[in-house]
Amino acid sequence: MLSAPQLSARVSSLKPSATVELTERVRVARASGRKILGLSSGDPNIDTDPRIIEAATRAMHDGDTHYGPSAGSLALRDAIVERESRLSGATYDPADIIVTPGGKFALMAALMAMVDADDEVIVPVPGWVSYGPCVRMCGGRPVPLAMLDTIDVEALARAITPRTKAIILNSPVNPTARVLPEAELRQVAELARKHGFWIIFDQVYRDLIHDGTFPSMQGIEGMRERTFVVDSMSKTFGMTGWRLGYLALPPGASKAVVKFIQHSIYCVPGFIQAAGLEALRLYDQIVPGYRATFEARQKRTAARLNGIEGISCPLPEATFYLFPAIAGDDIEIARHWLDTVDVAVLPGSSFGEAGAGHLRLSVTCSDADLDEALARIEQAGLPSKNQPKTIGVQR
Ligand SMILES: Cc1ncc(COP(=O)(O)O)c(C=O)c1O
Repeated sequence: MLSAPQLSARVSSLKPSATVELTERVRVARASGRKILGLSSGDPNIDTDPRIIEAATRAMHDGDTHYGPSAGSLALRDAIVERESRLSGATYDPADIIVTPGGKFALMAALMAMVDADDEVIVPVPGWVSYGPCVRMCGGRPVPLAMLDTIDVEALARAITPRTKAIILNSPVNPTARVLPEAELRQVAELARKHGFWIIFDQVYRDLIHDGTFPSMQGIEGMRERTFVVDSMSKTFGMTGWRLGYLALPPGASKAVVKFIQHSIYCVPGFIQAAGLEALRLYDQIVPGYRATFEARQKRTAARLNGIEGISCPLPEATFYLFPAIAGDDIEIARHWLDTVDVAVLPGSSFGEAGAGHLRLSVTCSDADLDEALARIEQAGLPSKNQPKTIGVQR
């Protein structure tokens, strides 16, 4: 008898997300009746605004339930062009915009379009857990580059080889909540020009910057031409489940990239795009309020964490995450809080080696749950063997 066929090495070789172990422990604990307070989710606790839901419903009733243009509706692409010009100062033509099902698929489309077998893509560490696997699924090799507090240009220069096809930059950063300063972007831009590689600029948290200043790669002279911008409605509008994002592309690139959309998903549903258009129209009415809510929660959380011996928590510049340095082993401390006080946070090392010695907390639960979780963390503190006199990793 012939043996069973094998699944592809492309997917079999992928490691499950590093956050899976903790998520599994949370699931088991919840199933046994424990009330676990989750400070681990990247999904904001925001219901989609009813006016956005209404726009989708209206579109469906009006018959927008068929295949549509693979690049996205012109109305939405026009609105995205307007958004880019307002937020980054970069001028796009609607033909350079492709609407995608979320930021993750925008990233996949960008990588599919530029990575050939064994090409190298430099990925940030600590960084979002999907960068490496997405590069691998496209046949490329992720090359991790530590950039906890800053991008070390010399380390970046050393990481560049003749096979370097691109670097992925994320600003504001998940998990550290740092906004990459313009000076760092310029240094990377210079190397990209010199060595001729692309930049994938993931800005899905850009609407959640507290002081509003946003240095963007595509905003730097000459860099629009070599930057693939990844963006999304998920975090900005509490629309994670709608799966809506976009790619803003170098001039002329969309003709090739759209072929990947045509032969994979065909198009994002028209009624979802109608919802996105309404969301962008309501931006000023919706987003400042969300931003203020997350900032207030981050401030409160940082203040209370800093009161605990062995924890040092800088005030985040953006997002809904905090990334405190902790005195001790991050995996052990995350387990300790889950096992002793039923609070779930993510170890910093889930985001790559350079994140070790930190925890990622999300303030995406209700205010009441957040306060309760912080009280429990204060009660648990750090496990005693984890308390040297000084904190090992300072940020
Ligand atoms: C840094 C980063 N980029 C992209 C995404 C993708 O988000 P979505 O596919 O929901 O737009 C996420 C989601 O967590 C993220 O954290």
